Amino acid sequence: MTQYAMKFPEGFILGAAASAWQTEGWSGKKDSQDSYIDAWYKNDRKVWHNGYGPAVATDFYNRYVEDIDLMQVVGLTHYRSSINWSRFMLDYEQGIVDEEYAGYVDKVIDTMLAKGIEPMFCLEHYELPAYLLEHYGGWSSPKVVDMFVHYAEEVFKRYAHKVKYWFSFNEPIVVQTRVYLDAIRYPYEQDTNKWMVWNHAKNLATAKIVKAYREHGYDGKIGVVLNPEVTYPRSSAVHDKRAAEIYDLFYNRVFLDPAIKGEYPAELLTLLRGNGIDFAPTEEDLAIIKHNTVDFIGANLYYPHRVKAPEAEWPTHVPFHPKKYFSGFDLPGREMNFSRGWEIDPAIVYDMAMRIKNEYGNIEWILSENGMGIENEAEFKDEEGQIQDDYRIDFISRHLFHLLRAIEDGANCRGYMLWAFTDNVSPMNAFKNRYGLVEIDLEDNRNRRVKKSGQWYKTLSETRCLDIDLDDEYR
Ligand code: BG6
Repeated sequence: MTQYAMKFPEGFILGAAASAWQTEGWSGKKDSQDSYIDAWYKNDRKVWHNGYGPAVATDFYNRYVEDIDLMQVVGLTHYRSSINWSRFMLDYEQGIVDEEYAGYVDKVIDTMLAKGIEPMFCLEHYELPAYLLEHYGGWSSPKVVDMFVHYAEEVFKRYAHKVKYWFSFNEPIVVQTRVYLDAIRYPYEQDTNKWMVWNHAKNLATAKIVKAYREHGYDGKIGVVLNPEVTYPRSSAVHDKRAAEIYDLFYNRVFLDPAIKGEYPAELLTLLRGNGIDFAPTEEDLAIIKHNTVDFIGANLYYPHRVKAPEAEWPTHVPFHPKKYFSGFDLPGREMNFSRGWEIDPAIVYDMAMRIKNEYGNIEWILSENGMGIENEAEFKDEEGQIQDDYRIDFISRHLFHLLRAIEDGANCRGYMLWAFTDNVSPMNAFKNRYGLVEIDLEDNRNRRVKKSGQWYKTLSETRCLDIDLDDEYR
């Protein structure tokens, strides 16, 4: 065993994240303000674990004062959430702001700042207004991109003097991948072309709001939160390595490259064209993307992704899917979080950091989400009723170890944000897997209770030092 005592760099962010729809609940929301997620929940409640969903969530809308006190208790320096686009507007067509919701956002920001906690906001975390999906086909319409830019400008006008960290989207690839590529989420429509049209519209929307933010000369940073999957080939053989490269093009570089380098990888465009996918970007769109790259990115990192060469020929009667080029691979002996079904391999953090350093100009970034969702966590309560989540402390410590090691090796990472601050609602899994530093007790009026990890995080934040014991062969 070796004991490490690793200091955090000056100003290093130790925060936590969540989103509007996963916490706020529908209190005060008008019927016309459903988001895509709300529509999914209303139309397809049976797939949501035990029927829980966004309707009440953690009731943050009514309990934010209590929750912001708890942010201090667990030592957060920063907290990231989203502003709920679908609620921020009363009328999407006319671009009229809902002053009631906007006032609530203002109060949340002021309460956080008064407690010394810096807010960070995404402008979208799956909260596309359902109206825009129904009437315009969502991101398939350039008009929706323009409405998003208008919404962003209204947000900046109100809050950019107080909030210094902005992100266009959280994980912009996710909704269309689950809906149009894999067809496993409402409204279950397989359409690979639409998948790419949405990817492109979101890349364009990011560039357009970066442009708008800079033109107004706001004093802060603007970027995007991505979920790049650190992807390893099964073997060093050419065919397995090729599978990993292609996976990376379709799922990672499709957002990383436009956001940071201002262009799509040429090889991705060739593969799309060769498979009949035409998302028809105009020269003007590509120029906007080229000239408006982000200041920084957030990378959400949870698990490694492993692939091998495809097991079979892609069937001709099935529409194109990137799976034509790879098959998944389970590493024998892998460490697992069985509640979520995700492999655990903290070294992904180091590998991603080195990739950003070497391939993306060492752009500034934060590890914007990382965490461990555990089922039946109440079983870990001690006699006083506090959840003893030593497994979460171990998970965070090992990921931070690799992050601090990467920083020693020159990575430009400025912070770590845990998913999540409190337990909250997951898409479909709802409250099944608990992620929080703070428990939400569903049996008892959603009362909050700090877990052991919450106390530990507070100490980490105060001492600014990670103490960890690792087996000598761990590295
Ligand atoms: C991230 C998302 O991908 O993972 C969050 O940004 C999500 O919205 C988190 O909740 C954990 O995943 P899940 O599916 O277990 O909730």
